[in-house]
Amino acid sequence: MNQFLLEMKGPKLLINKAHSVLKNAYSPYSKFKVGAAILTKDGKIFSGCNVENISYGLTICAERVALFKAVSEGHTQFEAIAICSSSKKATFPCGACRQVLSEFGNMKVYLENDSKTHTLSDLLPNSFTKKQME
Ligand code: THU
Repeated sequence: MNQFLLEMKGPKLLINKAHSVLKNAYSPYSKFKVGAAILTKDGKIFSGCNVENISYGLTICAERVALFKAVSEGHTQFEAIAICSSSKKATFPCGACRQVLSEFGNMKVYLENDSKTHTLSDLLPNSFTKKQME
C-alpha cells in the first residue's frame, strides 16, 4: 500500500474494519466486545474478535485472532493493528498480545477513541526477542 494513502486513510480505514467485527465478538462471560484489524505490509487486512470460553483462561483476544488469521494465510510482515471495543474509552492490547505481536517486529497501533499513534515498541519496551537467544 502506498505510504501516503496509509498515512491519510490507514488509521480510519483500519479502525472501521476493527469496528465492523465487534458484532462477532463471542463474550458471554465478560460482555466486553473487542475487535481488531491488522494490516500487512502488502496492504491486506485481517480482522478478529475476542472468543471466550467457559474455561476462562482459554479465551483468546481479538488481536491474536487477527494476527493468527494473517500468519496462517502466509503473512508475517505488518504495518499496523487497530483495536476497538464496546467501551467508549481506548482499549490497549493486553500484555500477552503485545508479546505475541512483537514476535513479528514493530508495528503501529491505532486505538479507537485515542488520536495518538502508538507503536508496539512504545507499548512493550525492552521486549524479549530472538536477538537475546543468540
Ligand atoms: N480482550 C481482548 O480481546 N483484547 C485485549 O487486548 C484485552 C482483552 C478481551 C478478552 C476477554 O474476552 C475480554 O476482552 C475481557 O477481558
